[in-house]
This record gives sequence, structure tokens and C-alpha cells, in this order.
Amino acid sequence: MPPSDALSNALAAFPEAGLLPNPSPIHRLSRLSTQLGREIYILRDDLTGFALGGNKTRKLDFLMGDALAKAADTLVTSKATSFSRNAAAAGKVFGMEVHVLIDGEAAAQNPASQAFFEQYDTRLHYVPHTDPAALLDAQAQLVETLKAQGKSVCELHPGGSDAIGALGYVRAFQQIIEFARTRGIAFSKILFPTSSCGTQAGLVMGQCLSGYSVRIIGMAVSVPAERQRSRVLELVSATAAKLGYAFDPEAVLVDDRFIGTGYAIPSPEGQAAVKLFAGLEGILMDQVYTGKAAAGLLHLASNGEIAPGETVLFIHTGGNGGLFY
Ligand SMILES: Cc1ncc(COP(=O)(O)O)c(C=O)c1O
Repeated sequence: MPPSDALSNALAAFPEAGLLPNPSPIHRLSRLSTQLGREIYILRDDLTGFALGGNKTRKLDFLMGDALAKAADTLVTSKATSFSRNAAAAGKVFGMEVHVLIDGEAAAQNPASQAFFEQYDTRLHYVPHTDPAALLDAQAQLVETLKAQGKSVCELHPGGSDAIGALGYVRAFQQIIEFARTRGIAFSKILFPTSSCGTQAGLVMGQCLSGYSVRIIGMAVSVPAERQRSRVLELVSATAAKLGYAFDPEAVLVDDRFIGTGYAIPSPEGQAAVKLFAGLEGILMDQVYTGKAAAGLLHLASNGEIAPGETVLFIHTGGNGGLFY
């Protein structure tokens, strides 16, 4: 069976909501490729096409498919993140009520983030504690209250990184290998930022299911490699169980050399990479995720870890909202 069909078959049982109007483009970065002496392609998941969603839209396509299949009328998630803003948009377009629990006071929130929530009539609940347990308790209480009101509630993992959300990147992997097949290209590495793990878990699962040979390397942007790797493994394992397939733990590769001083703190290498992509290719990136992963790509090319002539795919995972605040 062709590898791409294996992925279609594996995903057939899981409904998609149809949030992506078209598969996002994959194209060669001609000027960057010339500059680096390597063949660099990009998957433009900054253009997934739904509410500035980036990689969140792919996850939400399956998460919303699942919520609709369960006849949910209410979504509950937590934290003021790009995922919850995108979930708020997705819930709104499907006529659902969306509740987001936010750690912190209303006045301390970023106005741009608040404006996105406002567009989608999101119901925001502020939990004025920094203790993560307080947020979980508040979420459990809210869900009970909503259920007591007769609502059909679907809770979404913050970040969309559960076994259903990860399927979005199994689908992306299918798109990648189909592109490679039709162009006669063999990608040796796929690089992208990794944090809450859904992107990486889905790609790894896609690789394990299809047998496609490529090194899938998550560029850690929030925690050190060992911790990130075990988090990814946990989610790959859950996704494999959901699909009823095995996975290869060796396929989970994480590089943490480009985190800089910490999560969400811009690094000089990341800033330089953002500038280079903007100036050479007209592609905008954020400082928290894609910029740091792009710094990794440039470093690997300059020190020979990506060899001259090698063909590599970089995934632009979005973060467009972060360009404005
Ligand atoms: C723009 C962007 N890129 C990458 C990531 C990391 O993806 P994942 O959480 O699936 O590991 C995120 C997560 O918030 C993100 O917003």
C-alpha cells in the first residue's frame, strides 16, 4: 500500500471539521537555499487560513470534528494562548458557546489577545492564582455548572495537544510525503518548533505509520531536550493507542540548543533568523516559536549537520498573532 494511503486509512475513522480551506502551501525557499547551499523547503502552516491559527488550526480540525460528532454545544479550555483564541474562533463558527479560564486578572491581559476573544464572544473566566491546580479546580467547577445547566460540554487540552489534536499533524505528514512523492524529492530532515508536543507527536506518528524515512527534529522552545522528549513520547504513545498502531520511540528527536535563556524570551540567534527570513523570503516569524526553530535550521546548515545539497523541510507553525504584541 502506498505510504500516503496508509495514513488516509488510519485517519478515516476520525472526523475533520473542515477548518482548512486548502492544504497550506509547501514551497522551496530559493534565496535561502542559494545562501545556505542546501535545498530548503517550507510548509507554510502560517497560512492554514483560519483565524490566524497556524498549527492550531490543524489540531482543531480534528478536535472540532470530534466535538461535533459528540454533539457538543459548549467548549471549555484554559489559558490566554493562541490555541484558546483559535478554539474560540472555531467554537463560534460552529455555533458553540466557548469558555476560557485565564490565570490572572482581566486588567493584566494583553489587549490584542483580549480583542481576539472579543471578536468571537468568548466567555472569559479569570482565576486570580498562579497555582496551576487552582485553574484546574476552577475548570472542573465550571464544567459541572455548565453540565447542570444542560450543556453538552467538550473540554479541550490547552494547546490542543492530545491524541485527537495530534492527528492534525498525521494529516500534515501525509501532505508532506505526497508533495515529496509528486516532486521526486526526498526530505532528509523536518524541523519545526516543539512545545506542547502535538505537532511533533502527529508527525512522528505519521512517519511510523507510513514508514517514510526522514529525521523529524523538534526544536525545543520551552523545556530542555530530555524533558521535552519524554513529553512528546507520552503523547505519541497516547496517539498510537488511539490509532491502534505501534510507534518507534527512536523516531522522537529533540534539539534544545536554541531555547536561549528561556521560553518566550527572544534570543539574539532567533532575532537574526527572523530578520533573515523576512529580508530574504518575505516570510514573517514570531520570536517565541518559529524564530528560534529557524535559528536552529541556520545553525545546522552552517555547521554541516545539514550537509551541502541536503533537502530539508522547515515547518512554519504560525504564531502570526504574536507579531502584533
Ligand atoms: C506558533 C507556534 N509554533 C509552535 C508551537 C508548538 O507546537 P506544539 O505545542 O504542538 O508543540 C506553538 C505552540 O503554542 C505555537 O504557537
